[in-house]
Amino acid sequence: MRDATPEQTPETVHLADYAPVPVTVTHLDVSFQLDPKATRVSSRLTCKRQGPGEMVLNGEGLKTLSVTLDGVPLDADRHTLGDRTLTLHDAPDEFLLETVVEIAPADNKALSGLYMSNGMYCTQCEAEGFRRITWMLDRPDVMATYDVAIDSDLPVLLSNGNERAAGVWHDPWPKPTYLFALVAGDLVATSDSFTTMEGKDVALNVWVRPGDEDRTAYALDALKRSMAWDEEVYGRAYDLSVFNIVAVDDFNMGAMENKGLNVFNSRYVLASPETATDADYANIERIVAHEYFHNWTGNRITCRDWFQLCLKEGLTVFRDEQFSQDQRGYAVQRIGDVMNLRARQFREDAGPLAHPVRPESFVEINNFYTATVYEKGAEVIGMLRTLIGAEAWDQGVALYFERHDGEACTIEDWLAVFEEAAERDLTQFKLWYSQAGTPRVRVTEHFSDGLYRIDLAQSVPPTPGQPDKQPMVIPLAFGLLDREGNEIRPTEVRELTTAGDSLTFDLAEKPVLSILRGFSAPVILEFDRPDADRLTLLAHDTDAFSRWEAGRVLAKDRLMRAISEDAEFDAGWLDAVATLAQDDNAEPAFRALALALPSEDDLAQSLHEAGIVPDPDRIHLTRRAAQMAVAERLANALPDLRAAMATPGAYSPAAEDAGKRALSASLLKLQTMRDGGAAARRVYDTADNMTDRMAAFACLLDVGDPDVAAQFEADWSHDRLVMDKWFMAQVAHATPVDAVGVAERLTKRADFDPSNPNRFRALIGGLTTGNPAGFHRADGSGYAFVTDWLLRLDPSNPQTAARMSTAFDSWRRYDADRQALVREQLDRMAAADPSRDLAEMVARMRAA
Ligand code: ARG
Ligand code: ZN
Repeated sequence: MRDATPEQTPETVHLADYAPVPVTVTHLDVSFQLDPKATRVSSRLTCKRQGPGEMVLNGEGLKTLSVTLDGVPLDADRHTLGDRTLTLHDAPDEFLLETVVEIAPADNKALSGLYMSNGMYCTQCEAEGFRRITWMLDRPDVMATYDVAIDSDLPVLLSNGNERAAGVWHDPWPKPTYLFALVAGDLVATSDSFTTMEGKDVALNVWVRPGDEDRTAYALDALKRSMAWDEEVYGRAYDLSVFNIVAVDDFNMGAMENKGLNVFNSRYVLASPETATDADYANIERIVAHEYFHNWTGNRITCRDWFQLCLKEGLTVFRDEQFSQDQRGYAVQRIGDVMNLRARQFREDAGPLAHPVRPESFVEINNFYTATVYEKGAEVIGMLRTLIGAEAWDQGVALYFERHDGEACTIEDWLAVFEEAAERDLTQFKLWYSQAGTPRVRVTEHFSDGLYRIDLAQSVPPTPGQPDKQPMVIPLAFGLLDREGNEIRPTEVRELTTAGDSLTFDLAEKPVLSILRGFSAPVILEFDRPDADRLTLLAHDTDAFSRWEAGRVLAKDRLMRAISEDAEFDAGWLDAVATLAQDDNAEPAFRALALALPSEDDLAQSLHEAGIVPDPDRIHLTRRAAQMAVAERLANALPDLRAAMATPGAYSPAAEDAGKRALSASLLKLQTMRDGGAAARRVYDTADNMTDRMAAFACLLDVGDPDVAAQFEADWSHDRLVMDKWFMAQVAHATPVDAVGVAERLTKRADFDPSNPNRFRALIGGLTTGNPAGFHRADGSGYAFVTDWLLRLDPSNPQTAARMSTAFDSWRRYDADRQALVREQLDRMAAADPSRDLAEMVARMRAA
């Protein structure tokens, strides 16, 4: 399907090659005559020269009907119309360029550009989707104002900015193409309003398909809280008279911050107690906030080029994490964010796909919307704030908004405001943007004659293209406890800036060190210490993150030794776990987190790093044995403990009740290990909300309940979002031996529509992330199954195929036989003439 004209040969783009455009576009007038198979797009670009050179416009898959310059059709010698470029050879200093093109949104299954989903038209232009709509300079440093006219019989016609007449929109804020959006369809809105601190009235609408309007309240509420929070915490107010959110069923990512018209994957908008879990509610709150916050960090101040993606994404994730901490409680939110970072970003950093927070080259930019750019990008900002202090941080951010409003910026612009505000040189700190890999910090303690010394040593492992690393600036928040667990030194931050350093203290006895409090840096701590110290921290540390971390390290240590040397689960550890589970002074949500054992993937990575080849089946069985040991230790206490977590009254998605349900679900899982599913069956049959029902469903699948899948389906087959959960849970909770078979059987159903990314991710992700022992089956059937589906999806939707291919990025951890089986599949993908997206991912994974 892709011919190899030189223009289409994948070419690597380099940060170092950045150059501004010779001719820019300051205003865009664009009108759409919508038709599924032949949409006509007429655009008029106001162009202005800013340097010597040709103007090269981007286009992809456009049927070009006409091109005129200042009203005159272009002569053949004044332009070249290529497959993906339109070049103007001697453009004047100022001119109007008009083009008319035709596109077919109904045939667009890549979900990039203008496409159709359930009869509605919608767009996704980030990163380079606008070129699939019309000829334009499709790059973020070209910022234009827009007038948009939409001609269609559909009742609701939306675009960016303010509406001037039906289907006629004007966006006064200059923006890059990637923030353009258009929506047209038979939609209904739930509406409200918000008055900004500047006194501006803003109409708020959440647009959904008819029938979904009773599931919009929470998203709307989250939007209002986000708007208030950004005013209060960052002094940022909204700047248009309307803010629209639209829910779309077919969407490659989570959501998109188009100016004034955010488009969302419907799973991150729609929620009711009967259909959405607490985790869904938390995600909706976070993502609504994230996209809203982009209005300032991303839209008003955007990125000069795609290498600067973390400028908007890292910062906006940092802001949405702060928001969620304020809404839900600092400790639990922070622990959850760190768990997510370790599960996705540390894994990425440890494998062939490792790249810096600011990459230096790419083939397909969509492959770099990664945990490293987003989540590590947010951690880097958190460290910056820790290093310079809250006051300089606030000043620096204020200066950033003041100085760069309306501009397309770089990481250098960003760091410069903090260098000024904090009067500090950030040259070494900047390595966090350019060096990939998770730094290791080794801690060793010495105590003698009243002197306590901590030796610190850092190293950054080699990553693809970066064999040697320099020492980083690592902020280490720490405190000291005495042997009884009383805090004798409150939290302070020391900076590790060299390969090795020491801290010394005069103390009568050896203290218990609490280090990396609040996870003050995204590093891996190597700290061999007595269990007694960890138990003291678990019981007494004042820092909730560090308390939880002590428990996690204890559990991981037990599991690693049980896997590698058949060690038993000792009573000391089980007692500590049981004590915390029953500690009424601790928040239920925290107790639930403390009961969660390290994941199978986490254990596989840690074993690999310890020089042990991980055996996925053994990891799976040992982890279940550990759960069983905890269940036996709590035994008869489980029913009462769970009863104490009841949440009487109407369902509330707020953190307090959600925390109780989370603990209750953890306890139910343990109870199921002892009663074969009796308690879970009662919960399943009586649950009045999806959180409890899903928890019970998973337990019943774990014990092989023969009826529950059919019962669930009978109740929910009409609901696409709930059915995604059904698909995923069945694969994730199948036994490792059955998992591929279950997944295969489910793909044969009429309602398995691989062109819907949510459904595809539910099923394939249910195997690759939900059931690692099933995915890594020794016969290679999991690898072959996933590859079959990636290759089926890739021709129509390369973005999602490429993203899902990351399932293979950990392949070097495993034994030679499994590696050979994965290599076979990677070779098969490489040989199948894959998309540029998938080709790049496969090439990087094969190179390892
Ligand atoms: N900017 C969006 C967000 O942060 C992500 C959109 C990315 N889309 C893509 N196709 N790469 O929420
Ligand atoms: Zn974002």
